[in-house]
Amino acid sequence: SPPSILGNGKDSSESAAEETYADIDWEDLGFNIVSTDYMFVMKCAKGDKFSQGSILPYANIEISPSAGILNYGQGIFEGLKAYRTEDGRILLFRPHENAERMKIGADRLCMPSPSIDQFVNAVKQTVLANKRWVPPPGKGSLYIRPLLMGTGSLLGVGPAPEYTFLIYCSPVGSYKKGAVNFKVEDKLFRAIPGTGGTGGIKSVTNYAPVYTAITEAKANGFSDVLFLDSASGKYIEEGSACNVFVVKGNVISTPATDGAILPGITRKSIIEVAIDLGYQVMECPISVEEMLCADEMFCTGTAMVVSSVTSVTYKETR
Ligand code: COI
Repeated sequence: SPPSILGNGKDSSESAAEETYADIDWEDLGFNIVSTDYMFVMKCAKGDKFSQGSILPYANIEISPSAGILNYGQGIFEGLKAYRTEDGRILLFRPHENAERMKIGADRLCMPSPSIDQFVNAVKQTVLANKRWVPPPGKGSLYIRPLLMGTGSLLGVGPAPEYTFLIYCSPVGSYKKGAVNFKVEDKLFRAIPGTGGTGGIKSVTNYAPVYTAITEAKANGFSDVLFLDSASGKYIEEGSACNVFVVKGNVISTPATDGAILPGITRKSIIEVAIDLGYQVMECPISVEEMLCADEMFCTGTAMVVSSVTSVTYKETR
C-alpha cells in the first residue's frame, strides 16, 4: 500500500516554531526513550466502543494499583515508524497494518480496540503534534508506540472494567549496536505452538519471560537470541524483537506465522518485495541444521528494519 503522507512541508500556515527541530543531537540516536512533547490518550469502558481521544502533554499516567494491566498483564502494544523525506514530507510505514494487528491482539485478550480509522488518525495526530521530534532525513525515524491496556481496577481474574489506548513516540536511530550475532536459545521458549498461546500477538506478556535468556546471551557477547519451537526444539521461530529469514540460492525461507510467531509488518513487506524481485519465497519450518547450511540470513522488524545476520551459534556449532 502507498505510504501515508502527513503534510507536504509547504503549508504556509505552519509557524516557524512548528517547523524547527527539537534541540537534541540528531547524529547520535540509538534506540532509547527520548521524551517528546505529546501523547494521545483515549479511554473506553468494558463493553463500549472507543469514541473520542485527545492529545495531551507527554507525562506519567495515573493508574490504579489494581489495574488489569498491572496485575494480570492485559495489554498489547504496537510499533511503527514515521520518516522525514528530503522534501519535508513525513511518511508513515503501513499504519493500517498495525491497526489490523492490534485488533487481532485485542480480541485475543478480550479488550475493545480502536477502529482502523481511529488508530490511524490517532497515530497521525501524535506524529503531527510531535513533528519537531521526527529526525532529519537519513538521521533516524520517529518510533511510534501504541499501547492498549486494561486500566480499570479489579481484584478477581477477568477482563478489566476500563481500557486505555495510548500512543507515545520517541526519535530513534539503529536498534542494534554492531553486527547481529544470534545465540540459539535451547532452554527457554517464547511461545507455545499454534493459536492456543499468544506468540502471534504483541502481548506485553511475551517479553519478560525470556529476559533471562536475552541477558545471558548478551553477557556472552551475542546481540540477540533466536528462539526455537517449544514442541520439538528443532525449528527456528524468531528473535527477541525480529522475524528471521534464511537464503539458499534463489530461495528465501521464513518460518510460517502459525500462531506462535509474530506476523511482522516488515516481514510481510519483505516477502512482497522479494517475490517482486523474482525470488522464490517459502513460509515453512526451518530446522537448525537447515539454517546452519544457509548461504545468508537476515532479520526484519520495525525496530530492526532489515539487518543481515553475521553469525548464529547453536550449542557449540557456529
Ligand atoms: C518493533 O520492532 O517494533 C518491536 O516491537 C520490537 C520491540 C520489542 C523493540
